[in-house]
Amino acid sequence: MKKKSVRALAVRDKRVLMRVDFNVPLDAGQVSDDTRIRAALETIEWLLEREAAVVLMSHLGRPKGKRVPEMSLAPAAERLAELLQRPVTMLDDCVGPEVERACGELQPGQIAMLENTRFHPEEEDNDLEFAKQLAASGELFVNDAFGSCHRAHASTVGVTHFLRPAVAGFLVERELEALTRLLEAPREGFVAVLGGAKVVDKIGVIKNLLPRVETLLIGGGMSYAFFKVQGKEIGRSLLLEGSDTAAAEVLAELDETAAHLDLPKDVVVADRMSADAETKVTSVDEIPSDWQGLDIGPVTTEEYAEIIRKARTVFWNGPLGVFEMAPFAEGTRKVAEALAECQGYTVIGGGDSARAIKEFGLADKVSHVATGGGASLEFLEGKELPGIAALDDK
Ligand code: 3PG
Repeated sequence: MKKKSVRALAVRDKRVLMRVDFNVPLDAGQVSDDTRIRAALETIEWLLEREAAVVLMSHLGRPKGKRVPEMSLAPAAERLAELLQRPVTMLDDCVGPEVERACGELQPGQIAMLENTRFHPEEEDNDLEFAKQLAASGELFVNDAFGSCHRAHASTVGVTHFLRPAVAGFLVERELEALTRLLEAPREGFVAVLGGAKVVDKIGVIKNLLPRVETLLIGGGMSYAFFKVQGKEIGRSLLLEGSDTAAAEVLAELDETAAHLDLPKDVVVADRMSADAETKVTSVDEIPSDWQGLDIGPVTTEEYAEIIRKARTVFWNGPLGVFEMAPFAEGTRKVAEALAECQGYTVIGGGDSARAIKEFGLADKVSHVATGGGASLEFLEGKELPGIAALDDK
């Protein structure tokens, strides 16, 4: 990694301002999935053990610059306190004299959490005056919010104008290492599995991966854009705006590379998107005009699983069907199982596929599960992540 790591810092008796990505799902005021909090523990504990005082900042949700009590970070701070087994002081805001005073009083080994940075519109504007106020809470800056590094906001980029050293935490290091390994993997035996609805959002990744992979397996809602381009009847299956143009672009690009692109051969169709819908399996050439495709079919599932099991490197992003509903979960489940069985290097690219592999209880059977969906995709597109670029070079 080209960026300076937290391990290079002398942090004893220092107040460390640390950006984390605690943008976690909440249910009835409780954190319902604490993966992102756990992912930041290594750096937090490392700092506390070395007698630093730690001030955490994060966003949660998209409150659009207003104070939305349901998007308070208090539940995340509570969960963190349980995991660390020590108190975490929850502050009422992320800037201002009260916050500065409270942070200034923190003793080595103590930890505080600032309130949601996105309660202020200046956060997403990367406003430098606001960034300066954030910076006032620390003496040096650690960014361990990998999932937010594709956002050029005050808490990820602006703050580095006022706080140095500005270094990467262990989670950021781990994520970059895993994704870089993918981009440098040998083409032979490199399989990318892409699903989900939005081919438009993934076109950059597909283009950057096509020259690098041996096989690209397509599934999920985005398949229907490819079928549309091929002139097939897709019935009432998903076709998001612009997706057929994006799919056509991918197919044109394919001719320039040695990669194989596999599309589903069969699909599970339903008369409506509901767990109690009527369903059947059909060839992709026979989708009835008033039905919709909601999962890959058994022939495709078996073919994809076989390719994945034999692969040397696998990257998976996006579910293969509507896995939240039992009748349409099989494709995603079997692909997840194949990844778990694969002996090669396997990476899940965050978002819905990370949620799926966790729900199937297989997260510890793959090499790496990224904590940031959007950030991973942008990195794999070959883009520079602004939150990383802003950190000190080694
Ligand atoms: C994420 O969940 O991908 C990150 O926390 C970024 O959130 P955002 O898409 O609202 O910027």
